[in-house]
Amino acid sequence: MKGRLAINGGARAVPEGLKGLWPDITQADKAAVMAVLDRNVLTGQDHGPEAAALQEEWAAFNGSRHALAFNTGTASLHTALFAAGVQPGDEVITTAFSFSGTCLPILQQQAIPVFVDIDPHTFNIDASKIEEKISERTKALLPVHMHGLPADMDEILALGAKYGLAVVEDACQAHGSTYKGRMAGTIGDLGGFSLNATKNLSGGEGGLLLTDNEEYAERAKMLRTFGEKIDDQDRRFRSYACYSIGWNYRLQELPAAFARSQLKRLPQYNAIAQRNGEFLSEQLSKITGLKPPLVPEDRTTVYYKYRLGFDPEALGLEVAPARFRDRLLDALEAEGVTVSLWHYEPMPAFPIFQDRDIGYGNGYPWRSPFYDGEVTYDLQEYPQALRMFETSLVVHDEKHSITIQDMALMECYAEAFHKVFDNLDELLET
Ligand SMILES: Cc1ncc(COP(=O)(O)O)c(C=O)c1O
Repeated sequence: MKGRLAINGGARAVPEGLKGLWPDITQADKAAVMAVLDRNVLTGQDHGPEAAALQEEWAAFNGSRHALAFNTGTASLHTALFAAGVQPGDEVITTAFSFSGTCLPILQQQAIPVFVDIDPHTFNIDASKIEEKISERTKALLPVHMHGLPADMDEILALGAKYGLAVVEDACQAHGSTYKGRMAGTIGDLGGFSLNATKNLSGGEGGLLLTDNEEYAERAKMLRTFGEKIDDQDRRFRSYACYSIGWNYRLQELPAAFARSQLKRLPQYNAIAQRNGEFLSEQLSKITGLKPPLVPEDRTTVYYKYRLGFDPEALGLEVAPARFRDRLLDALEAEGVTVSLWHYEPMPAFPIFQDRDIGYGNGYPWRSPFYDGEVTYDLQEYPQALRMFETSLVVHDEKHSITIQDMALMECYAEAFHKVFDNLDELLET
């Protein structure tokens, strides 16, 4: 399709007014929140009635024995590492590409993050590169189900079993995704989820933790509420004594009620995201130089984000990938496609890893007397992650999740991509 690009003054491929806002807030959601105010119970010493019900419903949705509600996904992951016995000076292996909410919980436990490069096709941790990073100090593996696609869990569980490591899943982006028929977040020893407003299941903010392990669940409850042991059967009695280090990681009642109401529609939102993601992949795979995200046949994704790769070389273009990416972003945005980069560098590039004095101070946790390893955060160790940032973009932004968009919009998006790729000469000449 020819036609002047919108970036050069042509008509937009995507008309205004087609995009739905996320989260999708219904009358039922509003009523659920108002009911909390009418009840006048906004929190509980361990958890209030809405948070307790959310726990039960999330456990049932996933077929897990225990679900615990938290105030953030980051708190759920920190708690998972604590529950699994990660201690100061232990190493925890995770992917080089994720949000800070994956690596900070490791540091919060005064443990040492060890990063592994990604698989360029799935954007998840490259499971074949984990073993070479395992040392006698490694205590846990923390794979992330990036953008909603489960990581290679069989390979990861096998390494966990071989070396006696806990496996904690960062399922913060993967509510309802499956791996070989199993729910994301129930495959390892523990799995943490985020209820942040951008997620397919939203509470505004919040988190959830799943485990089948009774002992882990008890330790997690302690950490969540000031290190206390609170009797589930008799909540009238509270000793206030701390039995471990603890935080106040409780989920409030208002976000819990909102999340419960949203949970009723999670299967519907995931189905829309999958329909839209599959449609985009089918359409965009017809365009030379575009690489839709790979979804291996043994798993499903819920497309929390739709990351699209591109290959300027396949198009015979002599242009630096990052320049091509930036031109694409500008052109697609001008056509009315919502696009974003979502992150610019792998986690080991973050200043907190490059300058070890700015985190806790005093070089902790790396300079702790409990740590005698020599982890490096040399960016050359993560070539696939570095390349991914230069050669991919995300279709949609956090306020316009594809969980809520109509097919009409997706059709316009496909048209916009065709238009831009039919006019690459025009795009690159300026
Ligand atoms: C992969 C990943 N891990 C961890 C987190 C942390 O979750 P939260 O923002 O709820 O603390 C998020 C979400 O933002 C995430 O996307």
